[in-house]
Amino acid sequence: MALTTVELTPRIGTEIRTDIETLVSGRHAAQIRELLQQRGVLVLRGLHLDKDQQLAFSHTLGKVQPQGEGGIFKISIDPKESPGAEYLKGSFYWHIDGATDDVPNFAATLNARTLSRTGGSTYFANTYAAYDDLPEEEKQVYDQLRVVHSFEFVQRWVNPEPSSFELAFWQTRPPKVHPLVWKHRSGRKSLVLGSTAEYVEGMDMAQGRALLTKLREWSTQPQFVYRHDWQPGDLLIWDNTGTMHRVDPYPVEEGRLMHRTTIEAEEALA
Ligand code: SIN
Repeated sequence: MALTTVELTPRIGTEIRTDIETLVSGRHAAQIRELLQQRGVLVLRGLHLDKDQQLAFSHTLGKVQPQGEGGIFKISIDPKESPGAEYLKGSFYWHIDGATDDVPNFAATLNARTLSRTGGSTYFANTYAAYDDLPEEEKQVYDQLRVVHSFEFVQRWVNPEPSSFELAFWQTRPPKVHPLVWKHRSGRKSLVLGSTAEYVEGMDMAQGRALLTKLREWSTQPQFVYRHDWQPGDLLIWDNTGTMHRVDPYPVEEGRLMHRTTIEAEEALA
């Protein structure tokens, strides 16, 4: 079967129409990777990939991180499903995956296993487009700034009174300083923001927080955002280096479960 594409909004999001065999074969992997970097998030409706098929497809896109069960990481806020249940509530806020790593991962796939009847829609913001539309004089200032990203900072939103054990776990991931603007090897630039962005290095704390808030508001304007309302069997793929994302809160009793694979970083954050 061939692979066809439909743009979902002018600035972000493309639906890919194809079948499982074509996807897993890797015949279109180069085209999918290119689309990913141009469109931020790719949507495949109702595919119902099993774990092996999701992994096989992910391997066509790059090197898969060995997270979870052989590369399949469960996204669930139910402690019975996932040991990371509590901290995964951090995904209710705009973020980039792996923002406290040396370099955030290149991409991820998310496969719907059990959906929630309320909440649970996932939003993506195109941080290339958000940067491109900034006034030139602001770009010149932002190009020089560096931001401290902290896992503890976002976890305090979810759990403001941690136990000593929880705090010690958060602090196993020390803060990381990243440029505010990612100058990609392609020559394009994107903003590096999200709920882990605690303060701007060398800037007055209040001014830095005001700037990070202003840039979050700017980047999440409707023209830069795609909202995905899940249907059974949907698969999403996103470019984690040129988007940020968040999910609408959902009740734990709904048993929402997603399977994620993560494609390793391929270029320095410079
Ligand atoms: C994530 O933030 O990686 C998961 C998003 C979702 O659960 O929809």
